[in-house]
Amino acid sequence: MQPLEGRVIAVTGAAGGIGRGIAQAILEAGGRVALLDLPGAKLDEAAAALGAGERVATATADVTDAASLEAAFAEIVAKTGRLDGLVNNAGVVRLGPADAMKASDIDLEMAVNVKGVLLAAQAAARRFGAEGGAIVNIASNAGKVGYPNMAGYNASKAAVINLTRSLSLEWAARNINVNAVCPGGVATDMLKSVADFIVGGDKEKSDEMMKAMVPHQLGRHIQPIEVGRVVVFLLSDTAKIIRGQSITIDGGDTPY
Ligand SMILES: NC(=O)c1ccc[n+]([C@@H]2O[C@H](COP(=O)([O-])OP(=O)(O)OC[C@H]3O[C@@H](n4cnc5c(N)ncnc54)[C@H](O)[C@@H]3O)[C@@H](O)[C@H]2O)c1
Repeated sequence: MQPLEGRVIAVTGAAGGIGRGIAQAILEAGGRVALLDLPGAKLDEAAAALGAGERVATATADVTDAASLEAAFAEIVAKTGRLDGLVNNAGVVRLGPADAMKASDIDLEMAVNVKGVLLAAQAAARRFGAEGGAIVNIASNAGKVGYPNMAGYNASKAAVINLTRSLSLEWAARNINVNAVCPGGVATDMLKSVADFIVGGDKEKSDEMMKAMVPHQLGRHIQPIEVGRVVVFLLSDTAKIIRGQSITIDGGDTPY
């Protein structure tokens, strides 16, 4: 029996790089997956790329908006008949020095990366069956060590780490297991935007910078599917003894 056989897992931000890898890993583990993202995001393209037909459902939602999440989870359960897990993957980063940071930038990072995790978790947990469920939040190693020009992002991801502990404690009695992962540099558009920022937008230098931004011990970028496979483990019954944790998956860059 595969670890997620018979289960339906929703993934937010699923049209993006890591979201697609997580969806792929869920399918690989025998599960069905519901892809959620903003209206206008490339959800159909993501679903088609997975090539898994009826094992994939899609719904649009803005994770900062409770009503849109409620509607999306109702649609998912209507399409799939159940919900067993949630991966809170939607996220944004705004880059720049802290002393010039706009209030609107940190507002957006907190709204999507922190409030969005809570609202989506609430909406999903209401749809879990009597047997409970599992939630995995995609935090970041930036929530443990912090990086320059990412003050709002660092703060938002640190908040996700402690929100994970709170939800784990409060929802244990409902048999809902809540953990997080803290990836490092994963080869996606988000990491490319960081490379672009560091070199001031020069395309050639940005490609070089992207190549240099690899975990040193690993010597290559982490791929989205690799993040997905750790997430699958945390969604599985094997991980029931791991609770409220935020596991660093950055190829060894962050030593805790
Ligand atoms: N790429 C990395 O190196 C890295 C490292 C650590 C953590 N992360 C985290 O992993 C997650 C995925 O990042 P990614 O690299 O795939 O980025 P990405 O930009 O490729 O994907 C992010 C997705 O989130 C969606 N999204 C944004 N705002 C939303 C909202 N309000 N409601 C619903 N969806 C929304 C976007 O449409 C997009 O599809 C993020 O939480 C990010 O902070 C990424």
